[in-house]
Amino acid sequence: DGFNPLKVAMIGTGYVGLATGTALAYLGHQVTGVDKDVSKIKLLRSGKSPIREQGLETLLALAQDRLFFTHSTAEAVAEAHVILIAVGTPSKANGEADTQFVEAAAREVAASLLPGRNYILVVKSTVPVGTNRRVAYVVNRVLNERGLAKEVTAYVVSNPEFLREGMALYDTFYPDRIVVGAREAAGVEMLRRLYRPILEQTFDPPPFLPRPEGYALPPLITTDPTSAEMIKYAANAFLALKISFINEIAGLCEKVGADVTEVSRGIGLDPRIGLRFLAAGLGWGGSCFPKDTAALLAMGQEYDYDLPIVAAAREINFRQRLRVVEKLQEALKGVRGRVVGVLGLSFKPGTDDIRESPSMDLVRILIDRGAHVRVHDPVALDNARRALEGLEVEFFQDPYTLASGAEALVLATEWPEYRHLDLARLAGMMRTPVLVDGRNLFDPEQARRAGWTYLGVGR
Ligand code: UGA
Repeated sequence: DGFNPLKVAMIGTGYVGLATGTALAYLGHQVTGVDKDVSKIKLLRSGKSPIREQGLETLLALAQDRLFFTHSTAEAVAEAHVILIAVGTPSKANGEADTQFVEAAAREVAASLLPGRNYILVVKSTVPVGTNRRVAYVVNRVLNERGLAKEVTAYVVSNPEFLREGMALYDTFYPDRIVVGAREAAGVEMLRRLYRPILEQTFDPPPFLPRPEGYALPPLITTDPTSAEMIKYAANAFLALKISFINEIAGLCEKVGADVTEVSRGIGLDPRIGLRFLAAGLGWGGSCFPKDTAALLAMGQEYDYDLPIVAAAREINFRQRLRVVEKLQEALKGVRGRVVGVLGLSFKPGTDDIRESPSMDLVRILIDRGAHVRVHDPVALDNARRALEGLEVEFFQDPYTLASGAEALVLATEWPEYRHLDLARLAGMMRTPVLVDGRNLFDPEQARRAGWTYLGVGR
């Protein structure tokens, strides 16, 4: 049985929606992306990506014959076989994930479904446990109101997303697994059809994304919607606590004189532990780990169940920033009035995203404590300028100019270009060459030979 192209509607053209939608179009489906933001639609229609993501504009061009964009849900939905909802679920004040956009999208979708047809409605947004049931309820209610309960079948399927920013397309084409939570077999079958080229790896890889050597076909994990929702949160919480664990150990390494990078390697080679996500540093940020761990805690509260490990992972994560400030304080005998340069503002390398970035938080803490803060980032300066408006901070296009006359540098995001900095030249520009390497990017010996007072994390 060959490939069956489907008509797909993608509600929401953010990171997940746009990356997944474009990939599905590249695989041969006919995809219509929907977004309320008219300027985004305009941009996308001209082949440009509103987000910075490796390979995305190239893929938009390669898939353009099968990829359409509109602000009208009705237009995209009516003819579709599969409708994916990938809208945002921002945090409420209590940490709970706000599902109002998901529910609004579901209502609008339901209002546009045509009689005599079957639809599969897929929730891709990260949503609290119980949301898929709620979406099914909302859809049925709207269909009832329209008097179409018997004429339209719309099954709701949970299909959580595991892609990383900066690696969104790679993760979409070469996932570790695909998770489908469905109550009806028809839902599973439709998603199997949708993802068949990925499940069987029958597509020609885009030229910039060759199939990785030794890549094994991804399993399709079929389960109930509630478990699928839980898988997403448990995955992100586990990754976050893995990082927090090594950060906790890093603090003790400093006290006893061990090197956490050696410890990471020494434990990570045990496949039960694994080497990835064991890099100690300033901690985790971004649009997912902070939000999803907070949402998990809120779920615990709702069900009157404590999650002390998740809570501790968050505490340790925020403590990491303060530990860097303490190191500066000690090395400089106080940070008030000191000129401190921060290298890297995005929450990780490879993106201009500064949401919940530990580095941005560090900048605010330092300003708050009276330091004169200078910042640099290869791509996130514009975003940072907007976010830090009104605060006294200096923006630099070049790390060497930033270092000129500064009293300490903090390496806060491990951009590869920082690895190639001429450390001796950089030290020569400083008033006092104090380097707090918040991501353990540099070799301590090399940095010391280049003239720095070097302070890493956990070594
Ligand atoms: C994360 C997950 O990795 C994805 O699987 C998931 O789909 C996504 O969230 C999501 O829920 O949408 P992402 O937020 O793009 O992806 O970023 P990661 O690459 O996971 O990094 C998260 C943070 O952890 C970064 O701030 C990074 O600097 C930090 N980190 C990562 C460490 O401090 N140490 C490590 O060893 C690894």
